[in-house]
Amino acid sequence: MPTEPKMYLNGRIVDYADCRIHAFASVVKYGTGVFEGLRAYWNGDAKQLHVFRLREHMERIRYGMKAMRYADIPPLEELERAIVEVSRANAIRATTHYRMIAFLDGDDELATTGPTGIVVGAVVRGSSPKVETGMAAMISSYVRIADNAMPPRVKCTANYVNNRAAELEARAGGYDGALMLTQEGKLSEASGACVFMVRNGRLVTPDLGSDILESITRDTVIELARTKLGLQVEERRIDRSEIAAADEMFACGSGWEVMPINSVARMDVGDGKPGPVTRTLQKAYFDVVHGRTNTHPGWLTPVW
Ligand SMILES: Cc1ncc(COP(=O)(O)O)c(C=O)c1O
Repeated sequence: MPTEPKMYLNGRIVDYADCRIHAFASVVKYGTGVFEGLRAYWNGDAKQLHVFRLREHMERIRYGMKAMRYADIPPLEELERAIVEVSRANAIRATTHYRMIAFLDGDDELATTGPTGIVVGAVVRGSSPKVETGMAAMISSYVRIADNAMPPRVKCTANYVNNRAAELEARAGGYDGALMLTQEGKLSEASGACVFMVRNGRLVTPDLGSDILESITRDTVIELARTKLGLQVEERRIDRSEIAAADEMFACGSGWEVMPINSVARMDVGDGKPGPVTRTLQKAYFDVVHGRTNTHPGWLTPVW
């Protein structure tokens, strides 16, 4: 899927071919970038493109820059504007995934803290077919990075060496994706998404101390489950062996959306098919991101 022809680089809209940085920038040498993946959804009835939870994504990338000790962190409004500008420059009127990367541009040694660069690109793409069919997950032999080694709560580019290893291992083993465990052997998250299970009518998900990303979709799902479905939600440690007790499981993220998990390590979750709670949550999620309900207007930023 190609990136749209107009990109944003350091305050300007540029052509894809001109979107370049120096090969010896700190981000290339040491993986010091921080990124965001977010979506905008096209509502054909309203003829409007809504960026979903733009503010929260821009707040998280700023948090990531602070955690990575960037000397200069661009204001929230400037970052928000960059996403809207890329949408308008490409005349986007379709469901789209954006990637924003904050990066350290200086050619210096390890302790470089600036200058800060910002790049944004957009890819028009809808949902994965696995949102409908569900996925088969493995449990990766790679454990999730620990908070006392790398910052799992933020989207530091270097973190993704860990996720990539899990993803490649899953593909080589014939799975659709991987679940990762913490250093202590508790369930953490998927290679690019957070995880939930349904057990005895309750929604259970690893707590933020389980070395997970502070996921915005996880937060959305918890809010929708509590307010729209009246479900109890538990954020706590989950043992690997508890997966066998799950009635349903699903992964969630801006890119993966709400994706049923049919099996884990070739063991069926429940009866091996997307379950009713997952389906109801999917519907609530897609209604809200498309602006078909107006329960959370603050989550939608119109582009046009
Ligand atoms: C490792 C990881 N966990 C979880 C998520 C979900 O985060 P969010 O819901 O903010 O997109 C992502 C990204 O989408 C991710 O890369």
